[in-house]
Amino acid sequence: MKKRIALLPGDGIGPEVAESAADVLKSVAEQFGHEFEFENGLIGGAAIDAHQNPLPEETVALCERSDAILLGAVGGPKWDQNPPELRPEKGLLGIRKKLGLFANLRPVTVFESLSEASPLKKEYISGVDFVIVRELTGGLYFGEPSRQYVNEAGEKEAVDTLFYKKEEIERVVREAFKMAAGRKGKVTSVDKANVLSSSRLWRETAEEIAKEFPDVTLEHMLVDNAAMQLIYAPSQFDVIVTENMFGDILSDEASMLTGSLGMLPSASLSSSGLHLFEPVHGSAPDIAGKGMANPFAAILSAAMLLRTSFGLENEAQAVEKAVAKVLADGIRTRDIARDGQYAGTHDITEKVKAALAGSNTKSIV
Ligand code: NAD
Ligand code: IPM
Ligand code: MN
Repeated sequence: MKKRIALLPGDGIGPEVAESAADVLKSVAEQFGHEFEFENGLIGGAAIDAHQNPLPEETVALCERSDAILLGAVGGPKWDQNPPELRPEKGLLGIRKKLGLFANLRPVTVFESLSEASPLKKEYISGVDFVIVRELTGGLYFGEPSRQYVNEAGEKEAVDTLFYKKEEIERVVREAFKMAAGRKGKVTSVDKANVLSSSRLWRETAEEIAKEFPDVTLEHMLVDNAAMQLIYAPSQFDVIVTENMFGDILSDEASMLTGSLGMLPSASLSSSGLHLFEPVHGSAPDIAGKGMANPFAAILSAAMLLRTSFGLENEAQAVEKAVAKVLADGIRTRDIARDGQYAGTHDITEKVKAALAGSNTKSIV
């Protein structure tokens, strides 16, 4: 199979983990007889530095002529005082909107050998296996107006808007139901319908979509309760679907069930078939440039890319098994380390490649 992958490393640890994921994909290509052509593009702070634009036109064009997109992370203190339009985060939000990446899948899977890495007791996290489906191109992140201004009395004010069209809710909720139909058959729709109008529309829309999937159970949960239930009884969940910002917050919280934010991959899906894959974490300025970033979230995002964009299920599983093997061998980055023993990003990547090569998983063709 011949495919073109757009690689958008971004800022901070973004380039470090993106390189790991690309390296693993190159090993997959070699081992399974595929041809993956990588082309790098600028996004975020790196693009601001080079072009005064967090999302240059050429980056969009590169994505559009690719078969899939792999992104590291964007942002950092260097650009934190920039005006809103010149923030790195604007680049990420821009590419999501531009490509219509409306459904962000954030699987929360606990690797058996990492069960002691979570701050939660083992019995709480055993059996945890759910997916957060985060709406990604609407809600509080994109509603207008959104600005800071000075009112008539000369006082500073600011406004953001939580806006949804019904069809934006329908398409992401439908995606969640489709996922649940192939899993444990349960959707938890998370909202704040006791307060927010947008959540009441969300809830009634979820009820309508549920009728299309008679074999899937729908439950509603208020977001504050959901934040508690994720810690109290996380194994109750199968597919969680929720508004953009709720999903952002709940997924960072949920990452600690797996041991680290550095373990959580994601896939952002469009209806055009061009999808973007990125770790859930950010650019981690506190550890950037030190070679100690956990690359598993990025590597597992690459596995999602193989499965979702290229339909390469065997290859995706080979990557996931290689990650599981490295973890079972006790090899860890610092964020998930045991007994103060840890390896760097590069060494871990090499171990994953070695595990992949030793897996004897060969392509059928
Ligand atoms: P962050 O996710 O970058 O880091 C939070 C904490 O988790 C830090 O202590 C960091 O060291 C740790 N961490 C994150 N990823 C890790 C990894 N792979 N290995 C080991 N430790 C890891 O969140 P933040 O500090 O709130 O934000 C930093 C910058 O990243 C901000 O500019 C923010 O806007 C940006 N950000 C970008 C994305 C993205 O590109 N998708 C996501 C979140 C935050
Ligand atoms: C994420 C990040 C982004 C978001 C930021 C950097 C815009 O936190 O991908 O989770 O909030 O969506
Ligand atoms: Mn986030």
